[in-house]
Amino acid sequence: MVIRSRIIGTGSYLPQRVLSNKDLEKMVDTSDEWIVERTGISERRIASKDEAASDLAFYAAEKAIKDGGVTSSDIDFIIVATVTPDMLFPSTACLVQNRLGAKGAFAFDLSAACSGFIYALSVADQYIRSGMYQTGLVIGTDVFSKVIDWTDRNTCILFGDGAGAVVLKSDTGASGIISSHLFSDGTSWDMLYVPGGGSRIPPGEDMINNRLQFVKMRGNETFKVAVNTMCTSISEALKSNGLTAEDIKLFIPHQANLRIIQAIGKKLNVPMERFMINLDRYGNTSAASIPIALDEAIKEGRIENGDNILLEAFGGGLTWGAALIKW
Ligand code: UT7
Repeated sequence: MVIRSRIIGTGSYLPQRVLSNKDLEKMVDTSDEWIVERTGISERRIASKDEAASDLAFYAAEKAIKDGGVTSSDIDFIIVATVTPDMLFPSTACLVQNRLGAKGAFAFDLSAACSGFIYALSVADQYIRSGMYQTGLVIGTDVFSKVIDWTDRNTCILFGDGAGAVVLKSDTGASGIISSHLFSDGTSWDMLYVPGGGSRIPPGEDMINNRLQFVKMRGNETFKVAVNTMCTSISEALKSNGLTAEDIKLFIPHQANLRIIQAIGKKLNVPMERFMINLDRYGNTSAASIPIALDEAIKEGRIENGDNILLEAFGGGLTWGAALIKW
């Protein structure tokens, strides 16, 4: 008897405030035309001053729990993928646990930047497959607007805020997470990072004066690595399950740049209709992008029982990975 983790509920939350490309034109030297052509992004959502990662996560989690037909007391564990936690500690997951009243759960955060959701899903899957736990809540939440340099046109046009959540349940049927494939390459840690605010450059004058609390990114290099690594992890997931791209109903990639997704489609010979895309409305929401896209794909009726779907991500670390799911 094989135990698998089945996704029984999904939910997502996007802050209300919309920041359009036209709004950005008034903030930095850019244009709607450039942003749409180079990234595919038209607008993104921005958290309010008093909204933090745990708030977004909580709203998404509430919806996923309701959707899954369970209650907070059924949850054995909570994993939150984020690189923009409310505070250094306690974990954002413990704050979410408190808000949900999920007293029986243990909770922790996981840091893998934009790949965070795939990493967290994989960890959760191992807990459930081992038979140790039955029900898990996995959340991707990020509030990049608070770590973005709003004077840097290379980065400020790309990111948005959001959260997505799934409830996983132990199941012995054919549906569930079939396999996950994770990769890291610390040699390129400085391709995409936030230098300040940790124990290397603690909050203080040096950090503020040199704007080290903000995201730094070598966009061009990141672009190329993103295409190659996401293709590698997709191929690995397909190969290890004896499948081809034809067997996948829907690809749900990390939503960083439309041109990255188009390049992956071209390399794998998969038409754009088989990719879930919502970055035009939300930009890159980091660890939240895949669970938000998954939630929307389900609600739009793009996934049916028995479909194979493939999630793939790439992010700072560097980290990347894929997860094959039979719905
Ligand atoms: O989750 C993963 C995280 N990140 C990513 O996946 C990001 C991956 N990278 C990208 O999406 C793209 O590299 C960017 C969208 C960041 C940049 O697009 P690009 O086509 O690679 O542009 P570029 O960096 O090669 O810059 C081309 C030109 C430059 O001007 P010059 O030197 O040719 O005169 C830039 O200064 O475009 C300029 N530029 C802009 N112009 C208008 C850069 N940003 C902007 C901007 N508006 N916002």
